[in-house]
Amino acid sequence: MAKAKSKWICKECGYETAGYLGKCPECGNWGSLVEEVQPDAKAPNAAANEFINTEKPELLKDIHIGEEVRVKTNISEIDRVLGGGFVQGSLVLLAGDPGIGKSTITLQTCGQICRTGKKVLYVSAEESSNQLKLRAERLNINSDNLYIYPQTNMENIKAQIEEISPDFVIIDSIQAIYSNIVQSTAGSVTQIRECTNLLMHIAKNKNITTIVIGHVTKDGNIAGPKVLEHMVDTVIYFEGDKYKSYRMLRAMKNRFGNTSEVGIFEMQTDGLHEITNPNELFLNERSRVAAPGSAIIVTNEGSRPLMVEIQALVGTTSYSAPRRVTNGVDLSRLHQILAVLEKRVGLDFSKQDVYVNVMGGIEVDEPSADLGIALAVATCARDVVVDPQTVIIGEIGLSGEIHPVNNIEKRLKEAEVAGFKKAIIPDSNIIPKGLEKNLSIVKVKRLTDAIISCVSAG
Ligand code: TYD
Ligand code: MG
Repeated sequence: MAKAKSKWICKECGYETAGYLGKCPECGNWGSLVEEVQPDAKAPNAAANEFINTEKPELLKDIHIGEEVRVKTNISEIDRVLGGGFVQGSLVLLAGDPGIGKSTITLQTCGQICRTGKKVLYVSAEESSNQLKLRAERLNINSDNLYIYPQTNMENIKAQIEEISPDFVIIDSIQAIYSNIVQSTAGSVTQIRECTNLLMHIAKNKNITTIVIGHVTKDGNIAGPKVLEHMVDTVIYFEGDKYKSYRMLRAMKNRFGNTSEVGIFEMQTDGLHEITNPNELFLNERSRVAAPGSAIIVTNEGSRPLMVEIQALVGTTSYSAPRRVTNGVDLSRLHQILAVLEKRVGLDFSKQDVYVNVMGGIEVDEPSADLGIALAVATCARDVVVDPQTVIIGEIGLSGEIHPVNNIEKRLKEAEVAGFKKAIIPDSNIIPKGLEKNLSIVKVKRLTDAIISCVSAG
């Protein structure tokens, strides 16, 4: 028998080479190449060929768009993230850390979909039927249309899809599935790629909506090559702090909608519950007594503004190089803000450690959070407090000027509803009408103006 050939594949980007390399020439990652035994060259093609149908090139003008069919889950947070429900026949990747609640949210979604009369096949590659039944009982799901199939072999799954012909297929998880046409073990780059490829063909040919669950590695990537993200129509991440009860659903890629929406849930003993007013949740976490180094910002997550507390801690360092640590904010953004505070406000952080934390386990990557971060840091350094009834919105330029932000009206309205009394906003933003009654709005041009107008002696 001929010796099986092997290739080295980059786990991060899918780059292939015949021999081992320490550094991937494509994406530059070190130690990311893994060896994989290659299947018989003809085999994977044979599988894919099965699906190649008689389609021919068509003129653009002759293509008629059928109506995009959306299946709503009736869980409004999920529907919103997906842009109005699942698109029939699409392939969705649900990724998240182990234990975060992917199987739970998927099973709950299945329960809702079955209520609309759709048939669902839940392939459980990690848990037994008994375990799933127990979970379903806990979640109060009982449906005649929900098939549970504990299986790890792709060919068997395909056969069952053909037999049952469901409207929805769930694969929990893709890392535990293997196909006979590839020799490597389940979870390897080649297996994940091949199985996803097969599932994509099935989804598109039979118009079955497929949800593929994927685990995420320690560094936050979906285990398997990035190529997996390119293959699917939608990538949603389920994330959150394992030690806290709320979870966030966020679209990272969506061929049928935007990617800025966030769905928020709370994990309880009977499953995940939607949080329709997240501001209550995040602001409740806030310390009751105003302390130096705390500022409230209003980020704009999709169609819904979120009020979040930024906390900073500044203290004399005991290290040779002072520490800069962030949680929920990009570190380079903090470096930039510190540089502006040093140069334009005159603060000195050269012997100070600076820690910045976004409360509630939220990631803030919007530039409108700059001013809130700067004020949290500056007030902590000067040991004064930001008035706790104030929200802070604004992007900081390198010369200390404050730039306007988008959606100011939505943000301010949300702050008003949440009971805030004052808002510090960029000077060049136009104040929407009717807001000034309950909210005193202070416009600032420069970072120094913002510092003066927000602090009260602590
Ligand atoms: P699970 O959906 O199994 O996570 P994943 O599929 O992402 O690995 O969820 C696991 C955690 O959720 C587990 O620690 C228990 C908790 N949980 C609840 O708190 N309440 C519930 O109703 C359920 C079903 C799970
Ligand atoms: Mg699971």
